[in-house]
Amino acid sequence: EKGLRVQDKGFLNTAVMQSTITYIDGEAGVLHYRGYPIEQLAEKSSHLESAYLLIYGSLPTQPQYELFEREVLNHGVTHSDTAQFFRSFRYDAHPMSMLTSAFAMLGSYYSEANPSLQGQRLYTKGDAASLATMDRQIYRIIGKATTLAAMAYRIRQGREFVTPPTGLSYTASFLYQMDHIGEENYVPNPVLVKALDTLFLIHADHELNASCTTVLQTGSSLVDPYSAIAAGCASLYGPLHGGANEAVIRMLISIGKPENVPAFIEAVKRREKTLSGFGHRVYKTSDPRSFIVRKTADEVFKVTGQDQLLETAMALHDAAMKDEYFIKRRLAPNVDFWSGLIYRAMGFPLDFFPVLFAVPRVVGWLAHWRQMMLQEGGVKIWRPRQVYVGETKRDFVPVEDRV
Ligand code: SDX
Repeated sequence: EKGLRVQDKGFLNTAVMQSTITYIDGEAGVLHYRGYPIEQLAEKSSHLESAYLLIYGSLPTQPQYELFEREVLNHGVTHSDTAQFFRSFRYDAHPMSMLTSAFAMLGSYYSEANPSLQGQRLYTKGDAASLATMDRQIYRIIGKATTLAAMAYRIRQGREFVTPPTGLSYTASFLYQMDHIGEENYVPNPVLVKALDTLFLIHADHELNASCTTVLQTGSSLVDPYSAIAAGCASLYGPLHGGANEAVIRMLISIGKPENVPAFIEAVKRREKTLSGFGHRVYKTSDPRSFIVRKTADEVFKVTGQDQLLETAMALHDAAMKDEYFIKRRLAPNVDFWSGLIYRAMGFPLDFFPVLFAVPRVVGWLAHWRQMMLQEGGVKIWRPRQVYVGETKRDFVPVEDRV
């Protein structure tokens, strides 16, 4: 068609919408949630408080926060809707695959969420009833994210699912559901709760990354939010995206000792290997989150002891940062380079790391989904174009005449 041209492969530089949620400056290495610098939020806020900020646009008052926390926790801790479903997986199913499937299944369970079943544009009217329905889905998806993650973890250990006691924070409830194995009055280590909560907070949103775009692309057809979130999980699962935190540890294990780093760097330069945890489509100087993760790692290691891969990670980091090949391509550590070391030190299984990215990221996906549902002029289905460069018109050839 006339006038259509490929702007860039992989949306290298394409803006498809306006947003008021998250601001990134890739040159300055800046990240703001609703105008608040990520460094200030990481130090002074909590994941759930920042979740409220991302979704509703302002920091909550104390009553607003307490209602939000209570609704999220109450909507999240049930197992009856998914227990049988989790028992149907193979013993070695990847937890990201379980999480993706479980969210899709919830869309069939909570029919109120599925506008096509209602035969109406449920969320886009913006009236009190549809806003309340939307909020209920938001509470349930944030609450369920931790419960489904804990179920995926426990089912593989052959452990029963547990319900956290009231009075624990969102992240403490999650760690309780993960680690409680029957001890009386078990309370997760507060240093580890704080560290994980900070990691959740800095993973909560990152504007139109691949998985957020997937959620909006899917949600733009007005499917229920559970199905859109499941699509986001599927996109995040990939090693180029949220699967990178798992890939970094596998890379460090394959390198082994720090003295093997130079040989690995040369293999990367020969394009035989990828340096997972480095590079970013937007950040071309530094990923501000990587500094927060690095600092959090030191806090965690004080409790858990240092991970023996840290030496290798530091040697790899230092070698890459002063190597012309990486400097020329403006490759620096991203949020995934150090985070896996923390998850490993905290005892999470390696294939669980992308789940620890998805759990907080449902907040950012929901913030963007809600923004799209309520946008001025209603929802337009996302339907990009292409430039066709294939065969021109030709006639069918019967099989006996083909060569
Ligand atoms: C996340 O978008 C987001 O916001 C994502 C995220 C979020 O919060 O949602 O920040 C989370 O996904 C972080 C990224 C995690 N992924 C990894 O760590 C995987 C390793 N990184 C690369 O795969 C890559 O850097 C990407 C996918 C992150 C970015 O890819 P781009 O923007 O498409 O860059 P590119 O592939 O065009 O690379 C440009 C050059 C190329 O070299 P040349 O062909 O020009 O010679 O840099 C090279 C690439 O080969 N390169 C790397 C590299 N990353 C890019 N070379 C070695 N190791 C790397 N990690």
